[in-house]
Parts: sequence; structure tokens; C-alpha cells
Amino acid sequence: MSTQDQLKQQAAERAVDFIPENEYIGIGTGSTANFFIHALGQSGKRIKGAVATSHKTAELMAEYGIPQIQPNEVSKLAVYIDGADEVSPLLQMIKGGGGAHLAEKIVANLAERFICIADESKYVRRLGRFPLPVEVVPMARSMVARKLVQLGGRPELRIGFKSLNGNEILDVYDLDLSQPIAMEDTVNSLLGVVENGLFAHRPADLLILAKKDGVQLLEAHV
Ligand code: 5RP
Repeated sequence: MSTQDQLKQQAAERAVDFIPENEYIGIGTGSTANFFIHALGQSGKRIKGAVATSHKTAELMAEYGIPQIQPNEVSKLAVYIDGADEVSPLLQMIKGGGGAHLAEKIVANLAERFICIADESKYVRRLGRFPLPVEVVPMARSMVARKLVQLGGRPELRIGFKSLNGNEILDVYDLDLSQPIAMEDTVNSLLGVVENGLFAHRPADLLILAKKDGVQLLEAHV
């Protein structure tokens, strides 16, 4: 296993300590979230059920007998656990490297607490090196791409990829994300955009960051 994967696993294992028993939770998508599902499954901890943000997450939950519930069946979740592509000191994030950011944002907004789990490579002073994933309705792809260029971005179509909802993803390089809340709103206001991967309105509440010299718990700070 690579060092990065070992760190992802350490962050994921630590997150199990923050899972309350007999509650509903949400589980994100990606390799760090997968490590979390293995850790939760092996922990013997009993939860009432979990909302999955992708087919892969649901499949892995099923392997451990973690009951799956649908977002419409609950009014809130005790906690949401997920990885990130980048996370800032304010715990705002870029997500969507796996193209699941629409479901992830919905589930994160149902949760009372969002715990981000990450290896140290994901922690950045400023968001924006990782391209911003923007889910678009296919017929609006070119129109949205032109608008993103006007905003200073360099969109690239994610070739051969369809989201859970049958949409396409534009990965947008070079956008100025120094005002993440404003940019989250601006991109989402473009006709044809379904959702973008900036988590600025809904940052994480806690970051479990695995570094080579140990696991750190970070709350948002300026
Ligand atoms: C999926 C995501 C993931 O959380 C993000 O891509 C990080 O993935 P990984 O844990 O594999 O590094 O947002 O849409």
C-alpha cells in the first residue's frame, strides 16, 4: 500500500471514534471513504443505517451489512464522513474528483456534523490547484464552458464519464477561488450547471488529517 493510502486509512480509522451508535449517518465516496467503510464494518459499532453517496459506497456498505437508507427517509443525519480533493484551513473543500459531489453536497447538508478525512496532501492554504468539478446537463455543456472561460477558468470535459444522474463533468482549471462562497454561487447560477464541487457554504466541522508524524484533529481557523 502506498504511504498516501496508509495515511488515508489512518484518518478513516480515527473517524470511527466519532460515530455515535444507534444513529443515521452519511458516507461519502472515494478511496478514503472506502477505508472508512472497512474500518466501521470491522469495528463492530452498530449504527441504525447510512445514506450512501454512490453505488460503490452502497456496495461496500452491503459487504459489511451496514443498512442503507435513502436521503428522503430522514430529516437529519448525525454525522457525514467523507474525503476531499482539497481542504483549506477554513475547512472549505473542493470535492468531486470521483464525480459524486452532487450527492455528497446533499448528504452533507442533511448532516449535523461533517467530518472530513484526509491525508496531508489534501490540506492546502488556498483552494484551487485541483480543478473544480462542475456537473452540467449534457445539452448545456458548451454554453456553460464558454461562461466558465469568461470567469477566468479553463474547463476540460471529463471524457467517458457520466454522473449518477446522467450528467457530464467539466473539470475547471485556473478559476480564482479566493472568495470560495461567491464562486460557489456564481458557478451554480449558470444555466445548465447542476452543482459544482466547492464546499464553501457547507464546510466541514472537523478535519481528521493524517500526516506522517501523526493524526491531527483540526477545526476551522482563519
Ligand atoms: C468524490 C470526492 C472524494 O471525496 C475526493 O475525490 C477524494 O477522493 P479520495 O478519497 O479517493 O482521495 O469528492 O466525489
